Amino acid sequence: MKLFATILCLFSVLAFFRCKNDPQPPADSPAIFKEKSSNAATVSEQSPVSDFGSGSFESLIADYENKDRSIWQKPNLVISLLGDLENKTVADIGAGSGYFAFRMVGKAKKVIGIDIDTRFISFLDSMKVRLPETYQERFEARLAKPDNPLLQPNEADAVIIVNTYAYIDNRVQYLKTLHKGMAPQGRLLIVDFKKNNLPVGPPDAYKVSQNDVQKELLAAGFAIEKVDKDALDYQYIIIAIKK
Ligand SMILES: C[S@@+](CC[C@H](N)C(=O)[O-])C[C@H]1O[C@@H](n2cnc3c(N)ncnc32)[C@H](O)[C@@H]1O
Repeated sequence: MKLFATILCLFSVLAFFRCKNDPQPPADSPAIFKEKSSNAATVSEQSPVSDFGSGSFESLIADYENKDRSIWQKPNLVISLLGDLENKTVADIGAGSGYFAFRMVGKAKKVIGIDIDTRFISFLDSMKVRLPETYQERFEARLAKPDNPLLQPNEADAVIIVNTYAYIDNRVQYLKTLHKGMAPQGRLLIVDFKKNNLPVGPPDAYKVSQNDVQKELLAAGFAIEKVDKDALDYQYIIIAIKK
């Protein structure tokens, strides 16, 4: 499965998001981060990125934060589907560079950026300190396990999993564990690539079909609230509720 994850990651680099070498904070929420002029470095200049040693991690960050991504990813539309986040705790599972997590930090009571890769956790922490202080208190980067997002019982009112579902092994069991970490009636949003050899995303063989995600959610005890195959050109959106 490690090979599978590596291949998926490679496709993330080569095809998901076109590579650029100048990573920036989330392109359409720049105001949330302290500007370079206020003494903060750009992402590419920050030591946490350079310190990762290999250029490949920096490229991965650049890919995730590619400003062209917002054209097809429509992050604001996706986040709006979580509903009103005020006074809510949101978990972003497979947070990566925080593309979604940092866009939610101004809207929610708390955002937990969850990942299993320590490099992304370090990166998230390095970006956190660039947030205004009130927002810093609202953000937590959490190192989780491949089979467990490590949420406390009922901790998350809402959960988002974007471009990450296919990386997870034993997904029904994972979703059952996640279910326990969500508040009753909590909303879970899964966004991933449609099949059909699209110009972005991995080859079809590495995707999980929308039907399979739905089946797995039902098997884990979630109710399906909505399936949207049209809002995003390359991806489906599934909204599930903790019953
Ligand atoms: C393709 S990236 C997507 C990042 C982010 N969601 C985005 O859309 O920009 C997948 C992320 O999922 C993380 N990941 C893989 N398996 C995971 C698991 N079982 N639990 C949590 N995160 C995982 C990887 O480390 C990586 O950061």
